[in-house]
Amino acid sequence: MADRLTLSRGAVLLGGVSLAAAMSVRRLSPLQAPAAASEAVEVTLTAAPRLFAPFAGISYQGLAYNGSIPGPLLRVRQGQRLRVRYVNRSGGESTIHWHGMILPNAMDGVPNLTQPPAPDGGTFLYDFVPQPAGTRWYHSHVFPQLIKGLFGMIIVEDPHDEHADQDLALVFHDVAKAASVDAAMRGISTAPMVDPFGSPERRAMGPEEKMGDEVGYAAHCINGASYPKTAPILVRVGQRIRLRILNANPTQTRYVRLAGHTLRVTHSDGNPLPQPVEVEALRLGAAERYDAWFEVNKPGAWLLQGLSADPMAFQQAVVVHTPGMEGATPLGSAQSLEGVRSFTYELAGAAQALGTRPRVERVDVRRSYVLGGGRYGSERWTMNGEVWPNTAGVIVRRGDRVEVRFTNKTDMHHPMHLHGHVFEIVEIGGRALRDPLPKDTALVDPNGGTMTWRFRADSPPGRWLLHCHNEIHMMGGLMTAVEYR
Ligand code: C2O
Ligand code: CU
Repeated sequence: MADRLTLSRGAVLLGGVSLAAAMSVRRLSPLQAPAAASEAVEVTLTAAPRLFAPFAGISYQGLAYNGSIPGPLLRVRQGQRLRVRYVNRSGGESTIHWHGMILPNAMDGVPNLTQPPAPDGGTFLYDFVPQPAGTRWYHSHVFPQLIKGLFGMIIVEDPHDEHADQDLALVFHDVAKAASVDAAMRGISTAPMVDPFGSPERRAMGPEEKMGDEVGYAAHCINGASYPKTAPILVRVGQRIRLRILNANPTQTRYVRLAGHTLRVTHSDGNPLPQPVEVEALRLGAAERYDAWFEVNKPGAWLLQGLSADPMAFQQAVVVHTPGMEGATPLGSAQSLEGVRSFTYELAGAAQALGTRPRVERVDVRRSYVLGGGRYGSERWTMNGEVWPNTAGVIVRRGDRVEVRFTNKTDMHHPMHLHGHVFEIVEIGGRALRDPLPKDTALVDPNGGTMTWRFRADSPPGRWLLHCHNEIHMMGGLMTAVEYR
């Protein structure tokens, strides 16, 4: 009800266009915040078309859960059961995938692999106990519904969590240009690369190199709005604030910086880091999440920003200010990473010198994949030369210790994601991580870069997808599965 009211007020003010800007930054239209103390949380999520207009002059025919982009922020307590009645009015078949959750395979939301998709006008009941604790998210697993707006954050609260004076959910997302998505799928997109100067993405590419797989974006948002329409975040001196940040962009890596502050990163994809890391900027591949804390030491106004070289990048920002500073010009950051200490897996995992081998441990199943394809004008993105569904999967038995190693022969980073498990990164580019990093999505370096994951096959049995979370690469075939037999 409250949502309805805010949205229609926005519509009156702005000439008939429903404005997501009316949504608060601090809470995405809360269905329950904080989590209710009941045994089960019952939610209805309805997917339907929605005109999305994050700023004047743009209106985008997207898809929304319960009328909002991003979808409602879901909060549950660890151990609570979640029952989501999914009502699909999206206009096509649809599912919801619970990214980062370990759950029964039939609840994983992969069309035609773990469930028949809900037809348009149909429903599906997702019923499971969300775990592990932490910052997770949910999205459609039917292309291109994630690109169009079917995504949201879900937080599983851990009763042992460090106390925060404020716990803020921030979804970074963007509005894709439909024509560039089509062109990128055929490998002939002319959209430029917009990673910030000084980023590894930019260093990986030759100056005149054309990839043809870039998607162009028409708007950049945080929690459904573009700066200066993003709702400011009011903080007080002395407060310790926890940010839960999700990069819901379907293709691009995002760098995130809060001017005037360092960020203490405690969780990666919702999982506690071996030890917190202090950085000036976060680096989030598509689908990655970080929990990052800052302390308010002085009065002021600062911008929390997504950095990129896109001329419209300034839109992806929100003001953080202390009382009385709402009128001040906020301090911002340059759209560049030169000289900026950014988060890296090597930093968080204490990477050791070249040549050190990963911990010697028993491994029952070993698999390596060469990531390839993606030449200009080609739609193929491959694993060992094959495209899904012809890629060879990882066959495991329950209890196996599994090692998966990637060698990336393309010149793009790939945010590789495994469903239904938390893996540990144990090796990157020949260096062992002294403290393996627990994650569900990780960027594999380009131009021959390697990465090794280890995990225990102790999730519920079934078929668990393993794929690149760049939607263009996934649809181009960069996908396989871990199969319990
Ligand atoms: Cu977040 Cu297979 O996806
Ligand atoms: Cu990829």
